[in-house]
Amino acid sequence: MNDKRFYITTPIYYPSGKLHIGHAYSTVATDAMARYKRLCGYDVMFLTGTDEHGQKIESKAKEAGVTPQEFVDNIVAAPGGVLDLWKLMNISYDRFIRTTDDYHVESIQKIFRAMYDKGDIYKGAYKGKYCTPCESFWTESQLVDGKCPDCGREVHDAEEEAYFFRASKYAGRVRDLLLNTGFLEPRSRVNEMVNNFIDCEGGLQDLCVSRTSFTWGVPVDFDPGHVVYVWLDALFNYMTALGYQNDKYNDLERFWPADAHFVGKEIVRFHAIYWPAFLMSMELPLPKKVYGHGLLNFNGDKMSKSKGNVVDPHLLSERYGVDALRFFLLRSFPFGSDGNFTNELLIQTINNDLANDLGNLVSRTTAMAEKYFGGRLPEARQENPELDGSLTSLVSGLRGRYEEQMEKFQFQNALEDIFKVIQRANKYIDENAPWALAKDMDVNGPRLAAVLYNLLEAVRICTVLLTPFMPESCEKIFAQIGAEETARTWDSAAQWGVLPAAVSVTKGENLFPRIDMAKELAELDAIQEEAKKAALPAVEIEPLSQEQVDFDTFCKSDFRAVKVKDCQNVKKSDKLLKFTLDDGTGTDRQILSGIAKWYKPEELIGKTLVAIVNLPPRKMMGQESQGMLISAVHTERGEERLHLLMVDGAIPAGAKLC
Ligand code: MSP
Repeated sequence: MNDKRFYITTPIYYPSGKLHIGHAYSTVATDAMARYKRLCGYDVMFLTGTDEHGQKIESKAKEAGVTPQEFVDNIVAAPGGVLDLWKLMNISYDRFIRTTDDYHVESIQKIFRAMYDKGDIYKGAYKGKYCTPCESFWTESQLVDGKCPDCGREVHDAEEEAYFFRASKYAGRVRDLLLNTGFLEPRSRVNEMVNNFIDCEGGLQDLCVSRTSFTWGVPVDFDPGHVVYVWLDALFNYMTALGYQNDKYNDLERFWPADAHFVGKEIVRFHAIYWPAFLMSMELPLPKKVYGHGLLNFNGDKMSKSKGNVVDPHLLSERYGVDALRFFLLRSFPFGSDGNFTNELLIQTINNDLANDLGNLVSRTTAMAEKYFGGRLPEARQENPELDGSLTSLVSGLRGRYEEQMEKFQFQNALEDIFKVIQRANKYIDENAPWALAKDMDVNGPRLAAVLYNLLEAVRICTVLLTPFMPESCEKIFAQIGAEETARTWDSAAQWGVLPAAVSVTKGENLFPRIDMAKELAELDAIQEEAKKAALPAVEIEPLSQEQVDFDTFCKSDFRAVKVKDCQNVKKSDKLLKFTLDDGTGTDRQILSGIAKWYKPEELIGKTLVAIVNLPPRKMMGQESQGMLISAVHTERGEERLHLLMVDGAIPAGAKLC
């Protein structure tokens, strides 16, 4: 059996809504790492999944009028859901766990009981704020302006019986783990964790690990009414998915402890403090590394559904191809730091790196091999150490440089090393001017063959190393340059001259078409605008007035049915319409109304409307308005809407409305 093993995980996604590009970032990075390790010959276990319990899911399901299980099933397994997205994005996970899977639920119950039996979980009271209408507990920090974050109403102090985990007991060991080992990376996150959560006033606090105010969770089997806190439930997925405390799988011995947990920086706290403390309590080996990657922002702003700025990975994959998107995510942002996603950067990266550099190199090389040699290089080649050395020496050290960066999860640097070679190879074409050599094939044929062979070898080695990032495109490149299986391996990436001397080349499709930046940006902006609108409330109405009006005052307002005899636009005004109305008195009444945005004059002639007729007359654009037409107003997806109040034509002009 292969004794090189590697276990890597992504955070399991919380299926409360649609996945955006930020979620895809964690998973694409983990996938690239898993593929890299497989390329290096490791037996890899790549775990991902979904974290499906908790109060938020319960209340979202309620809003949607479905059971929580139906709600999560719909996001995880329905068409266009999480599983579909990972398939689309070529995520090569070996196992997918859902925390609602029976085996996981049973394992969590056993773990909870074991911690309780050991005395590391004890019963106490959870003090917090309570919103009675919502029946929800909140912590001080969850409140918005001191009020319930869900409904905005007053909250009050309350206590809920709860179980607590003795995190404080493990504070010293966790502190030591963080400060004195390489457990958490990047190192910059270590001090933040230690200072904020362990060396803070009061030290590391015990953690509330059960709740009674909602039911969507793993039930505590020895105390009905309690469900296990979602983070305890979720974190142990990394072990239950290998068979810890269950018979479903039997991979613990082979794969635990994990080699790396990739997690976004906002959940480092759970992975770097509570997770090792839970494992210490269960006397289990600790994972080797937690890597807290940065978050992607959009145009400098946090991605959030309510801001309507979440970037949809389905849409981008469709427009640019999955590989281009995967590549962009890992090429453009240093993994450990936050990154600013912009549409310009995306298109620029695709155009510069993929279309200009890589795409051009592959298409020029294969096109010349076809044009000058009918696709098959002659074996007679004439090397020129002076001219070839700068390319071959750069290529020969590439695998080592790449490996060093990949082992540190520095995907951006690894790609940078590859692209230095690609750029050098493009320059090598210009320096050697194959088109000039081709003018006299009798003399220069062997030299031309050497130039093209060197280029193919450079492309091959770069392509082997790019495979973890762009698996499908690399397959296509291999096919174009005639690289068989043996020329696609990790070992072959450190060897020059693996392609056969008489290699067969076929120019294929253009792998990375150039994108017209201006046109594309305009289209993306339009899509973005639509998304923003869609994120706004469907219908917004003005809050009801809190001020009361006494009956007599109300009765003074004289509302009448009025029939439109004529209606015209008012010159020099794009807002006003001028109405000539029959109000039943026999004398025409003129009213001006700022509704030209919503109605054309001819639509209104003959209609019966409602007007208040005893307002003092006022002048608008030099013309008198004798009253006001009544309309209904509301906001729809951020846009103001207006409807004139129209009444049945059977109501005679002048009828009083009360
Ligand atoms: N369910 C927890 C994880 C439990 S792991 C035992 C969770 N889920 S999540 O759906 O909210 O987030 C999943 C991953 O996506 C996390 O690593 C999170 O950091 C990452 N991202 C969410 N938004 C992100 C960005 N805008 N940018 C980069 N990563 C982001 O947390």
